[in-house]
Amino acid sequence: MRYSNIQLEITNGIATVTVYRPKALNALNSDTLEELSNVFDLISQDEDIRVLILTGSGDKAFVAGADISELSTFTPLQGRAFSQKGQMVISKLQNLAVPVIAAVNGYALGGGCELALACDFIYASEKANFGLPELGLGVIPGFGGTQRLSRLVGVNTAKELIFTGKMIAAQEAFRIGLVANVFARLQLMTGARESAENIAAKGKTSLRAAKQAIDGGMDTDLATGLSLECNAFALCLTSPDAREGTSAFLEKRKPKFTGKLDV
Ligand code: CAA
Repeated sequence: MRYSNIQLEITNGIATVTVYRPKALNALNSDTLEELSNVFDLISQDEDIRVLILTGSGDKAFVAGADISELSTFTPLQGRAFSQKGQMVISKLQNLAVPVIAAVNGYALGGGCELALACDFIYASEKANFGLPELGLGVIPGFGGTQRLSRLVGVNTAKELIFTGKMIAAQEAFRIGLVANVFARLQLMTGARESAENIAAKGKTSLRAAKQAIDGGMDTDLATGLSLECNAFALCLTSPDAREGTSAFLEKRKPKFTGKLDV
């Protein structure tokens, strides 16, 4: 597929996807959702990709939401199809086996905030702003925001943000636990890449297992989550990466993980 609304770059196992619609502050229209869906499929099939960084073009916006000019033309049925498509694409992102870092360089509003929420963690530039302003448009968050925001920051804070539709700056987003770290504007991508390189150097088997155990545990009770962790831990121990990691420690050298999944 030829992309017009996103850009994909892969360097040393780190994929960077940039939403690229500068005229509309990178807002998500149907075509952009289709391209994101395609690129997430491609990334899920490429065994060499270890980490994904998702960002927006320019320094004004990550993604300023769903495309309001397109939304305004929808019938309720078309709106339902659009929300389902957005949810499907964003779930595809959340379900990627590889860790995903959102590098939020500016406005992350509405569907843009919801896109960032589906990443494993969010790094923000000090210029970033977050919000779910949909109620001010007479609608509600439609790409998972009512569900994922409350899981991340708690129900009370999520309700306050969604009911008021207010925008919060990066430091406040950090304070409430929406953002994992805040960087100076020009340091954001460097910070995201350094973190991605650190993650990419870990064993692929254990990275996948950690992600599955954390995500699987979020949707269940503690006992079931602990059982998920036990099984994943045991499975990791049988992997070549675990043999390499433990031997490297005992031999006082750096591990060289191959990511092979065979036992
Ligand atoms: N959809 C379509 N176009 C958008 C857009 C969006 N979400 N956000 C910005 N744009 C366009 C503007 O229309 C403008 O286009 P023109 O130059 O052709 O007029 C261009 O991007 C630049 O935007 P502004 O002139 O508004 O820039 P600003 O600096 O004055 O304001 C902003 C920036 C505060 C982000 C403002 O653009 C804004 O409020 N945007 C809308 C944010 C929003 O409400 N998002 C939620 C969308 S609904 C949604 O996402 C539903 C869902 O859950 C799925």
